[in-house]
Amino acid sequence: MKIAFLKESAAGETRVAATPETVKKIIGLGHSVTVQTGAGVAASVPDDQFKAAGAEIVADGGIGAADLVVKVRRPTDSEIGAMKAGAGFVSLLEPYGDRGVVEALAKAKIDALAMEFIPRISRAQSMDALSSQANLAGYRAVIEGAALYGRAMPMMMTAAGTVAAAKTFIMGVGVAGLQAIATARRLGGVVSATDVRPATKEQVASLGAKFVAVEDEEFKQAETAAGYAKPMSAEYQAKQAALVAEHIAKQDIVITTALIPGRPAPVLVTEAMAKSMRPGSVIIDLAVAQGGNCPLSRPDELVEVNGVKIMGFTNLPARLPADSSALYAKNFLALLPLLADKESKAFAPAWDDEIIKGAMLSKGGALIHPHFAPASAA
Ligand code: NAI
Repeated sequence: MKIAFLKESAAGETRVAATPETVKKIIGLGHSVTVQTGAGVAASVPDDQFKAAGAEIVADGGIGAADLVVKVRRPTDSEIGAMKAGAGFVSLLEPYGDRGVVEALAKAKIDALAMEFIPRISRAQSMDALSSQANLAGYRAVIEGAALYGRAMPMMMTAAGTVAAAKTFIMGVGVAGLQAIATARRLGGVVSATDVRPATKEQVASLGAKFVAVEDEEFKQAETAAGYAKPMSAEYQAKQAALVAEHIAKQDIVITTALIPGRPAPVLVTEAMAKSMRPGSVIIDLAVAQGGNCPLSRPDELVEVNGVKIMGFTNLPARLPADSSALYAKNFLALLPLLADKESKAFAPAWDDEIIKGAMLSKGGALIHPHFAPASAA
């Protein structure tokens, strides 16, 4: 089939869904590839590298002729209009954020797959773009925090005196939080972390950080079968907030990554807690796009309150685009065999496969995903 990789147009988006390495492999699998002019420039991949890998560089990406169109982010209206009926579309669709795009794709008879819906089963680990991107976001959050912090991360004993290690607190120990703990430890910070999922306690300890949480009966039941956090009761949240308030007042850098899929992010650092930190301290809020873990954070804007710097990043992976693109491109490459007929190489999703069932939103003009299908069809 003809696979088209488009240039991203969302503000601040620097990633691209292919690399020369994946293009070469896709062509080796028997497909042809078009790449939109300049698609990789912001990720340090000039057009000639894609060309050398065998792709055709086309001003509009070759979208109208493509059997499968691939992006990092949602398609624009004009992109949906340009795709041919019956084509496939793959990206991080953020389907909960804009149902309209999902409906428009179905209406245009595009079979659309949301990368973030790929089930987190071991067979699909190599396709898990949420993890590949969150891992880099967790790393970058610490680097950004360290850069905003007017002091050093590691303890340094010098002839002129001792520099204290930065006390770093990671809130939410999913994929991003685990990488943040590891990165802050490598930089020499004194690291602690919290999460509502009991399984994280051991993971935090194994990374050499201290676990901070109210460990009552509710905490022991706080994980869904899918491994995600459950919303916690008001009572638990109050107990946890009291413990966390005391801890945060002594921290230099706080990194929040707490999310509950499909819901607004829980508030973990209240305004009072933020104000209790000493001047020069830093809060990095990775949940700001879902409403934020700190009510003071603003999307991609530095806020200063009592000398405490609060920065909410909506797209940290875009701040290391070469790596985040390379991993996302590999995620797509791993998925591709499930979208192509083995013999003819035509676009033919394996509709019975649980990965495709979990991630495909539309088929032949109808919304088929249980979260989006009209009630009667669901
Ligand atoms: P996420 O991005 O949905 O949430 C981040 C973290 O915030 C989670 O650890 C969550 O428990 C925590 N959180 C939510 N509410 C909180 C609160 N009130 N206070 C403190 N923390 C709170 O999570 P992510 O990174 O997507 O990972 C979720 C789970 O999925 C983890 O168990 C992870 O190990 C698992 N996973 C499994 C994979 C596989 O088996 N293939 C691949 C990737 C992740």
